[in-house]
This record gives sequence, structure tokens and C-alpha cells, in this order.
Amino acid sequence: MTDATATSRRHAGPAGTVRVAPSLLAADFGALAEQVGEVAAAADWLHVDVMDGHFVPNLSLGPPVIASLRRHSPLFFDCHLMMTDPGEYLGAFAEAGADGCTVHVEIGQTDRLIAQMRALGLRCGLACNPDTPFTAVEPYLGSIDLLLCMTVFPGFGGQSFMPDVLDKVRQARTAVRSAGLAVDIEVDGGIDVTTAPLAAIAGANVFVAGSAVFGHERPWEAADEIRDAVRSTQD
Ligand code: DX5
Ligand code: ZN
Repeated sequence: MTDATATSRRHAGPAGTVRVAPSLLAADFGALAEQVGEVAAAADWLHVDVMDGHFVPNLSLGPPVIASLRRHSPLFFDCHLMMTDPGEYLGAFAEAGADGCTVHVEIGQTDRLIAQMRALGLRCGLACNPDTPFTAVEPYLGSIDLLLCMTVFPGFGGQSFMPDVLDKVRQARTAVRSAGLAVDIEVDGGIDVTTAPLAAIAGANVFVAGSAVFGHERPWEAADEIRDAVRSTQD
């Protein structure tokens, strides 16, 4: 694949539709391309967790790994930047083949980061930690494509879903709907066949799942089961 293809963004699909995004963090890092291949048919997006050792007490991967994976997968890369200073690296993520980037509201400079993501042609996401109130992200809803409500404190996979966050998801969905905005509401952390439907009922439409997918013997089945569980709430 050439650089030109790496920087041509893939389509996210229509805002508000159900999407399952397996989180690479729970994959076998020694066999990333194979693991991504295993979920390719069942995944709507691939969620890529970037940790800088400052915003969260963990390190994961960065643009070089994304560039390598880009050559192996046509999936939409939904990059969750758990970083204190993502602005320094947004250009590198865009160049590597990220399609959407999500920055955390807790680090500030949100308007500048949104403008920077837009200028780079990235789909634009804003994340908030479980204890960050809806009022912190509300002013930006008209300027973003995706709101990520963390359902665990970021930094590690395999934690338990925090049901208290559902109130914020409900507030966000109500605000998005009443303003007629095309904004996805994503949940991330402890998402599985039991918790995804709870988040869906509250108003989430993008479901990130790490352990529940890559910890499963047949990851593609796990992703399909989460989507089916969400759809069953909509019947
Ligand atoms: C946590 C990351 C998540 C993580 C979720 O900080 O943002 O994307 O991979 O993992 P699970 O699904 O195992 O909670
Ligand atoms: Zn994440």
C-alpha cells in the first residue's frame, strides 16, 4: 500500500448506527495483523488505544504500529488518544492512516485540538472519563463527530463496567437528539454482551470491546454476539 492510500480516510458509516469496535489493546501484540484479520468481517471499526504513560499510567503503541497495521487492514481505525499532548502527534497519526482520532476533554485546549483534527481530515472525537460531568463536553457537541463516554477509568483493559456512567450517556443522547446533531456516542470499558445492551438503551451506538472480543476463543463470534445483543434492545 502506498502513502496515498494510508492518508485517504475510510468511511465511518452513518452517525448513530450500531457499530462494534474491537479494541486492539486486548489482542496478542505479537500477532497483531492476524488478530485484526480474525475480526475483520465482524468488526465495524477497529479501536486503537494509544497510551502515553502520562495521561494514563500505561504505554501501548503509536503511529508506527498504526502505519504497519494500515497495510494489512481496510477497517476504519478509531484511535483513542489517552495522551497529555496529542496535538504534537495528530499529524503523525493522520499520516500513519488513522481515520478518526479521539482526544480527552480533561487535557484542555479542546477547541484547538478539534480544529487541528478537522484540518487534518480526521473524524473528530472527544472523550471523557467516568467522573467528568456531561457539562464539560456539552459545549463541543456541535463541533465533533463522536463523543466517547469512558465506562472505566482509562489505562487498562479488563476492568469492570461502571453503570453510573449511563446517566451521562442518557444526557448526551438527549442533547444530541434534541439538537439534531450527527454525533456518535461511544462507550469503552467493560463492554460485553451483558453491558452493551444497557449502554444501548441509555443511548450509546458505538461499542468498544477489548477483553470480551480478543479474550474469546473465536473473536469474530464475540463481536457478532455483542452486535446481536445490542440489536435485540431495538426490536
Ligand atoms: C481502556 C481502553 C479500552 C480497553 C477496553 O483504557 O480505552 O479501549 O481496551 O478494554 P476492555 O473491553 O477489556 O474493558
Ligand atoms: Zn479505548
